[in-house]
Amino acid sequence: MTSLTTHSPWWKTGVIYQIYPRSFYDANGDGIGDLQGIMHRLDYIQWLGVRAIWISPFYPSPMADFGYDIANYTDIDPLFGTMDDFEQLLQGAHQRGLKVILDFVPNHTSDLHPWFVESKSSKASAKRDWYIWQDGKPDGGEPNNWKSVFGGSAWEWDAHTRQYYYHGFLKEQPDLNWRNEAVQEAMYDVMRFWLDKGVDGFRVDVMWHLIKDAQLRDNPVNPDYTESQPTYDQLLPVYSTDQPEVHAIVARMREVTDAYDERVLIGEVYLPIQQLMTYYGAQNDGAHMPFNFLLVRLPWQAQEIAAAIDQYEGALPANGWPNWVLGNHDNPRIVSRVGESQARVAAMLLLTLRGTPTLYYGDEIGMRDVAIPAEEMQDPQGLNMPEKDLSRDPCRTPMQWSGEAHAGFSTAKPWLRVDKRYRRVNVERQRDDPFSMLSLHRKLIELRNSEPALNQGSYTPLFSNDQVIVYRRDSPDGDSFLVVLNLTSRPCRYRQSQQPYLHGQVVVATSPEMEDTIISENIYLNGDEGIVVRLEHRDDATT
Ligand code: GLC
Repeated sequence: MTSLTTHSPWWKTGVIYQIYPRSFYDANGDGIGDLQGIMHRLDYIQWLGVRAIWISPFYPSPMADFGYDIANYTDIDPLFGTMDDFEQLLQGAHQRGLKVILDFVPNHTSDLHPWFVESKSSKASAKRDWYIWQDGKPDGGEPNNWKSVFGGSAWEWDAHTRQYYYHGFLKEQPDLNWRNEAVQEAMYDVMRFWLDKGVDGFRVDVMWHLIKDAQLRDNPVNPDYTESQPTYDQLLPVYSTDQPEVHAIVARMREVTDAYDERVLIGEVYLPIQQLMTYYGAQNDGAHMPFNFLLVRLPWQAQEIAAAIDQYEGALPANGWPNWVLGNHDNPRIVSRVGESQARVAAMLLLTLRGTPTLYYGDEIGMRDVAIPAEEMQDPQGLNMPEKDLSRDPCRTPMQWSGEAHAGFSTAKPWLRVDKRYRRVNVERQRDDPFSMLSLHRKLIELRNSEPALNQGSYTPLFSNDQVIVYRRDSPDGDSFLVVLNLTSRPCRYRQSQQPYLHGQVVVATSPEMEDTIISENIYLNGDEGIVVRLEHRDDATT
């Protein structure tokens, strides 16, 4: 290990693994995953080689948005277990060298949170100003034209106190008023509660939504809106999201986090690159890592992705550490977007780029989106806009552990149906197959963990066209890797143009035949093929 490695925090060098707890492993046989279930699978997670787990919300919740509607920030929903279970899980993770990142949802609470219940009780309530209450327009209409991400208006009328409250998501998820100092303090205390328990950081839900225009001005109409888009996209959310004042709040969250050793603050931010970068903070006082969703959002096209990687790299602020996400609980799975074979290339991209990768549970075995019949649909986003096919259920199905009933996820019927392919696509079956998706992930993660060139070295784009992306990764010590990825299903040739050309041996390949081969001036790849090449010493290679 180089000295550089020793000084790099875990969240830079390691891989983060996202767990959607409802769907990971059900230890108590009720068809819903739980904390004991995660405990049960810690050895697997450690074996996979990731450094940290981020667990989606498990706090007490009426589950209108499956836990993203929180009724108590400092407890555990009985569905998922108890505080003892959580503490055991944290301890078990730490014993295995795994960090634990919690999902922190500060933008809104559940409408059943005691704060909102109190706020709603009367205009004179001490907590009235904890939420965003507004009179209607003189004609009784809604205070402005803002829309909810989950469809319909963002304003809900309260007949009892005769005012509207704002909800950027479901009406069961009223937005907190972050302009109120008492709200801020209460939420920083929530962070401290978990940090004191020893958690290693937070993924902050919808960070860019936290604060709204003080005057609540109307959002402008989006001229590019098309019918197939969610109704939310009819307007440009310029006054309801990404307000300048958000950065002062993120800076306070960072301060709270930094008061503890080696903790991480990650922000969920869906914004174009330039706006995203502002979430790093002007003086390294923002999020350590605002999530980068380029690989989730872009069409899977080599030139487009290569350009986006360069734009992102080029836009990073000094000391801003990059990160990459290929999938999560809100978006279609990579296998369903690009196909099973190309998903192997995608994994190679995710795990060899410069920056922290976040891996979504199940992607390591190639789980796909599962079609959920309308009558089984659970996700409110899908249920609210049935004509638009926006349900997130398909990417949230139970983890496929084995070929046993319910894919070994549970002894009971799971809350969401399991993929029919589970007998072929499961952990048990792929574990010992050296060429499975799971083995490919393990190899890539292991290589990444052991090579400073990959986990913290520089990134240099070498070439891209409409088929391939080629780049190299170099460590200051002189170790170098070349990555050549074919993002199409057609064979391709990459001809090295520099003299002398790079030499080296393939260390990981998406197809077994390529492994251990020596590269030459012309590199031929089959469709859906990618290789990682250990380059011969840089002095030989670049002079
Ligand atoms: C975030 C979560 C998503 C949730 C929403 C509202 O985008 O990732 O699952 O529905 O916030 O909390």
